[in-house]
Amino acid sequence: MPIVTYILRDGERLELEVPAGISVMEAAVHNNVRGIDAECGGCLSCATCHVYVDASSVAQMPTPDEAELELLEGAATERRPESRLSCQLIMTPAMNGLVVRIPQKQG
Ligand code: FES
Repeated sequence: MPIVTYILRDGERLELEVPAGISVMEAAVHNNVRGIDAECGGCLSCATCHVYVDASSVAQMPTPDEAELELLEGAATERRPESRLSCQLIMTPAMNGLVVRIPQKQG
């Protein structure tokens, strides 16, 4: 099963097995990962699931669509080139080893 590493605000690293078809946000919420609020539940309207994808993982990611890019403009922390909304990162076997860093605040 694909593995995702979440780097928490305090630097702690948490590895989760995330089944294909499940979003990085859903896995975080179901496992009580601190710092991914996901207030809208994944319907692309809150930006409180913002993560920074580690440089080692960027090439594995699907391209964000316009709606995601627009919503990222309203993220509570600085938007960077590696910013993504974790509800839009749906796991595939090719994404195994994904590393995401949780920003200092979400709202
Ligand atoms: Fe609201 Fe991702 S959970 S935009």
